[in-house]
Amino acid sequence: MSEMTVLVTRMIPEIGVRILQKAGFRVRMNPQARQYREGELADAVKDVDAVICQLTDPVRRRVLEAAVPRCKVIATCAIGFDNIDLQAANELGIVVTNTPGVLTNATADLTWALMLATARRLGEAERFVRAGAWRGWGMLQFLGADVHARTLGIIGAGRIGTAVARRAAGFDMPILYHSRSDKPEMTKLGAKRVPLPELLGQSDFISLHVPLTDNTRYLLNADAFQQIRRGAILINTARGAIVDHAEMIEALRSGRLAAAGLDVYDGEPAIPKELLELDNVVALPHIGSATVSTRNRMAEMAAENVVSVLHGKPPINPIPPD
Ligand code: NAP
Ligand code: GLV
Repeated sequence: MSEMTVLVTRMIPEIGVRILQKAGFRVRMNPQARQYREGELADAVKDVDAVICQLTDPVRRRVLEAAVPRCKVIATCAIGFDNIDLQAANELGIVVTNTPGVLTNATADLTWALMLATARRLGEAERFVRAGAWRGWGMLQFLGADVHARTLGIIGAGRIGTAVARRAAGFDMPILYHSRSDKPEMTKLGAKRVPLPELLGQSDFISLHVPLTDNTRYLLNADAFQQIRRGAILINTARGAIVDHAEMIEALRSGRLAAAGLDVYDGEPAIPKELLELDNVVALPHIGSATVSTRNRMAEMAAENVVSVLHGKPPINPIPPD
């Protein structure tokens, strides 16, 4: 049997590459320091047996059609898969896998970092110190909002939403959640399931943890922003397109939102300049899972999925086609 080739669309931690090589596969790396454009990706997948991709790769129907009949599996180094046309993959018989679970805690930790940074104005305060503007302690300097004992509203109570709720226990926070189904673990944590308008109206912190789907795109639209409690803080470590950015900017300007902590943006890496001009925004470059151990584990998982499928075994973490 001829040597099988795995395309790695962008640099991943070395541990993933070693797993592929140890399994006897040839590894073809994207030679460019940027991600492939859709046409380039369609060319690159033509003669490979598997692809390890990332959440920024446009794995659309055109790319998947170019990949068959040779390519058997697309393994994304992420939990979110809104960049992949699953229906086309299913029709074409390509298995798609992701990396559930291993990034839950890292992403929940970053969500908390954003909650604390926004409430206590860490971005502004740090810029102030670095600018050499600090002249000494002041009773009225950088007064922020309490985090402890404020109400936390979690939209999407899956792995990450639940991990965020677990951390709230140490802050004595009442928790509300909105999800499609009851979550016994959330009930155990004392969280109450409520309809979305109620969550928006009663939460001091609103944290997004739903995947981006046709049902969640612009879930926070103009109507939703009208329902948000005045002075609430919005945290988004899920996907940018869950939030209408023009409405969010307006809410941040008007005080409807006291602040926003953002790791993701609609149309990223572009970020509206109006958002970056606002001092009550903490803006991060999509680093939710960016710890050394988490990224190693994600690369390992993606590689293990490829090995399993190319060795004729079932995928370890298949994404169900629906
Ligand atoms: P998960 O375990 O699948 O949780 C998602 C939850 O959202 C599920 O509980 C699901 O409900 C709920 N949900 C789906 N559609 C909904 C809707 N229309 N209304 C209300 N709830 C809905 O996923 P996860 O591992 O927690 O990850 C969540 C998302 O975080 C990922 O999809 C990804 O986009 C994002 N993420 C971002 C980063 C980052 O770097 N910033 C890192 C990791 C993940 P059911 O349980 O009822 O199905
Ligand atoms: C990160 O955004 C992921 O979906 O893993």
